[in-house]
Amino acid sequence: MDDDKHTDLEKLKEECMNCTACELCSGRKNVVFGTGVPDAEVMFIGEGPGEQEDIKGEPFVGKAGILLDKMLAAVDLDRNKNIYIANIVKCRPPQNRDPKPEEQEHCIGWLRRQFAVIRPKIVVCLGRIAATRIIRPDFRISKEHGQFVSKGGVLMTAILHPAALLRYPENKPAAFEDFLSLQEKIKTVCERTYGNDDI
Ligand code: URA
Ligand code: SF4
Repeated sequence: MDDDKHTDLEKLKEECMNCTACELCSGRKNVVFGTGVPDAEVMFIGEGPGEQEDIKGEPFVGKAGILLDKMLAAVDLDRNKNIYIANIVKCRPPQNRDPKPEEQEHCIGWLRRQFAVIRPKIVVCLGRIAATRIIRPDFRISKEHGQFVSKGGVLMTAILHPAALLRYPENKPAAFEDFLSLQEKIKTVCERTYGNDDI
């Protein structure tokens, strides 16, 4: 565990808890800052909190989150052990609508600052909203999921959103393939993600 990164993230979280930069602040129960290990080499980015996340203050803890955790576990990834998870917007959009471009624009600064502290080697976008905001505005999630691109020295990829997989379970095998290629990529570019159990 990296103590400096831990402290920096805690400070950032405290600041973020008071954010009123966009209209999403008015309906929230909790700011969902992010969770995971501060020195993660792999960072997952979702879209924004849903109902359960808003209640609990943690990303991906509803039905989609349970599926995400299962897929992560299948490739030895765990939010409490070796990854970090955050969202594009930190407050829940009403009725789980897509976050508006201006809301994303207001909130992305928090994600940038999280990214600057954690400095992951691999970024995994979960779903279209994160992929189009982080990888490329015209990213086609249905066609380009699982592909890796290098951006500013960081490897980036996108995987189908677990909530979409709950709606279209026939896409689960394709998502699982993407998790397997992610695992291979981690083995080639990361040093600590796998095999740091005894440190
Ligand atoms: N969907 C997301 O994109 N993020 C969450 O935290 C939960 C569901
Ligand atoms: Fe601030 Fe982001 Fe919440 Fe908007 S969504 S109030 S920018 S933390």
